[in-house]
Amino acid sequence: MKILLVTGGAGFIGANFVHYWLQRYPADKVVVLDALTYAGNIANLDTVKGNENFTFVHGNICDQSLVEYLLAKHEIDTVVHFAAESHVDRSITGPDAFIETNIIGTYSLLKAAKKVWLDGDAVLEGHRFHHVSTDEVYGTLSATDLAFTEDTAYAPNSPYSASKAASDHLVRAYHHTFGLNVTTSNCSNNYGPFHFPEKLIPLVITNILHNKALPIYGDGQQIRDWLYVEDHAYGIDLVLQNGRIGENYNIGGNNEWANIDIVKTISKLVEQEFINNEELAKRFPTAIAAIDKNTESLITYVKDRPGHDRRYAIDATKTNDELGYQPKESFESGIAKTVQWYLTNAAWWQSVIDGSYQSWIKEQYS
Ligand code: NAD
Ligand code: TYD
Repeated sequence: MKILLVTGGAGFIGANFVHYWLQRYPADKVVVLDALTYAGNIANLDTVKGNENFTFVHGNICDQSLVEYLLAKHEIDTVVHFAAESHVDRSITGPDAFIETNIIGTYSLLKAAKKVWLDGDAVLEGHRFHHVSTDEVYGTLSATDLAFTEDTAYAPNSPYSASKAASDHLVRAYHHTFGLNVTTSNCSNNYGPFHFPEKLIPLVITNILHNKALPIYGDGQQIRDWLYVEDHAYGIDLVLQNGRIGENYNIGGNNEWANIDIVKTISKLVEQEFINNEELAKRFPTAIAAIDKNTESLITYVKDRPGHDRRYAIDATKTNDELGYQPKESFESGIAKTVQWYLTNAAWWQSVIDGSYQSWIKEQYS
């Protein structure tokens, strides 16, 4: 039985991980520590709220004494660290929060874990600090480059990826220098339920439903390697069970798509849903282009993101071979489930859009 501290568990991937974990290991205990920034949403954890093995703590990972208190009080043996500022565009307009949470916050967690697990009267055997990182630390690929392996040199290009790279190095150093039992996973772009609608896939779905422009940065030929979020949770599970201490594991699903093709695919899927289900036109009367089967007309090319990475691609051979990892969801099934989720959970994303996200958008574009 494990007792987990999940940082950032009210965010997109963290919440999906908590759902996954409590379903798969119902006897385990999960404590979520989340600062509920604009990206954190307590509603993402509604389905586990009454579970006696689940505890939510509203707090900041930079608060070292709080983390020490939680590790000791709940007898935590496993930290799964998701908490981060995660949106590249925000890291360009306001990098400070990324340095604070992603670097200082991770450092603060490492100090707390070392103090409670290693520096007390006895070392806590079997402890684990799992750090959730990204493929973006490896930089950018050309169309013909081989995909990133765990041996690819770090070359982060945005303040977001640079802050994640710095945190990865700190995690590594705490293992090498102090003997903290760490593992790190570097995953490709995720999609699925509870994805905050500032990111490409949920932005496109919700904009179609509002009949708003679908903004394509630059020429739209940038490539991302998409993974259904539950398959990320499954990969982390395998790393926690059988990953070697001190190692990095790439997690991905061999699923590269140019942005423009993803947008066109989603447009077609939403249109098809409107054809299959006449109720949708009543529920989403603003979705005029979808109702008229003309969704692609919403596609609008806009100024490119500064320093925009051209291509990401994950080679997950090590994780596949060592841990037996294979994603369970195909892209076709995952994206169909995701579109369905947004169609049936309009209250969730509508409240997110009406809230803090909207004020950030106004700030950036007014
Ligand atoms: P997210 O932005 O949706 O959620 C981040 C969560 O962390 C939010 O709940 C937020 O409230 C919380 N948080 C932020 N600052 C905090 C702080 N100082 N203290 C405590 N909590 C804080 O992010 P996400 O997309 O779920 O990403 C989770 C992790 O996975 C991140 O570390 C990210 O780098 C990594 N990752 C994301 C992707 C992706 O495609 N989204 C891919 C690979 C890796
Ligand atoms: P995003 O979802 O922000 O993830 P990341 O930047 O971490 O890969 O963006 C995915 C891709 O989509 C990226 O190449 C930027 C592009 N993009 C657009 O073209 N338009 C948009 O409105 C957004 C949010 C992203």
